Amino acid sequence: MRLRAARACSPASGILGVISGLARGLILLCVILAGAVPVTHGAALLERGEYLVRAGGCTNCHTDEQGAFLAGGRALNTPFGTFYAPNITPHRRHGIGAWTDAEFLRAMKAGLAPDGTNYYPAFPYVAYAGMRREDVLAVKAYLDSIPPVAQPNRPHQLPWYLRFRPGLWLWKWRYLSLPAPGTTRDTDPLRQRGAYLVNALAHCGECHTPRDWFGGLIDARRHAGTVNGPDGDVVPNITPDRKTGIGKWSNDDLLFYLQTGLTADGDSAGGPMAEVIDNITSRLTKADQQAIVRYVLSLPPIENSLQSSRAKTERDPYEY
Ligand code: HEC
Ligand code: HEC
Repeated sequence: MRLRAARACSPASGILGVISGLARGLILLCVILAGAVPVTHGAALLERGEYLVRAGGCTNCHTDEQGAFLAGGRALNTPFGTFYAPNITPHRRHGIGAWTDAEFLRAMKAGLAPDGTNYYPAFPYVAYAGMRREDVLAVKAYLDSIPPVAQPNRPHQLPWYLRFRPGLWLWKWRYLSLPAPGTTRDTDPLRQRGAYLVNALAHCGECHTPRDWFGGLIDARRHAGTVNGPDGDVVPNITPDRKTGIGKWSNDDLLFYLQTGLTADGDSAGGPMAEVIDNITSRLTKADQQAIVRYVLSLPPIENSLQSSRAKTERDPYEY
């Protein structure tokens, strides 16, 4: 077959060769799109998928407080409206049980639904776009193995002008074309792993980075904190700026915080960070926790004066 195709592509074969060459290109494209990479299913793959689901914080959004595991989330309040993360159990009608690997890859890395419509960036695919393909497929294998739940999705509550999904093409053209975070080359393997965890999986920047008018992350102020976090929370600056960030935290302070939620001065993490610690960082391997610490403390320090939400209750909000 391959031999025949090769012969057909010789210059002598004229138009037939061109057609055959096109066909081969098409087949190659289909193979790439179909994700025909040999994937080993089995306990190790599922275990890796489960770990990645944890590191990616999928549960935080896709599981409701009293609801079944990953069967649909509670309300995510954003300045743009209220989103409900859908059912991602393998139920064939209400979940994603009928999806192919290629459809799942497209959703996670390009923010596209199987029918070609755009997802809202409330689903942090801008971060997951940086995930390695084999990691996305491990997540899919794990999701295929959890109990299917027959729970219909709740529609989002959005203002009329945001219900038009094709409008998201413009947004994606602007923000998804940025180099995927987490893929930076770094000579230090621990820091490189930390970048992958922080940017592509645990999406720390989705809360800790300020957004512009269109809801896109302001790359130059990555991790510098914002007063407009999810649910209107103040999210602190976690760059190592000594005055306004966490520049005075030692490695051990940050490690201990990510493991227990306790700061060096005895405060405990509140709000959405408590959940990030419970569901994500405290449940990672020590090596991965150390990788996050190494990477975060090596970020360029950015001065950005914000009050932490803790301080907000203690200080006059107009003090700054
Ligand atoms: C910050 C909240 C949040 C996190 C974290 C999150 N998602 Fe989602 N996800 C959403 C929202 C909201 C949507 C719906 C987007 C839309 O309707 O445009 C969604 C949609 C999806 C869809 C499309 C489902 C469908 O029926 O079309 C898949 C698949 C998905 N998420 C998988 C994941 C996986 C896997 C993870 C973890 C690696 C994850 N999500 C983490 C909020 C989140
Ligand atoms: C869902 C939103 C969200 C995500 C995701 C998130 N954070 Fe946070 N983070 C917060 C909020 C809100 C606070 C303030 C908590 C408080 O007031 O106790 C916080 C506090 C912190 C603090 C303490 C800073 C200080 O000055 O007290 C650190 C360190 C931190 N986060 C690191 C991280 C890292 C690392 C990640 C990714 C692994 C991450 N955060 C992901 C919302 C988030």
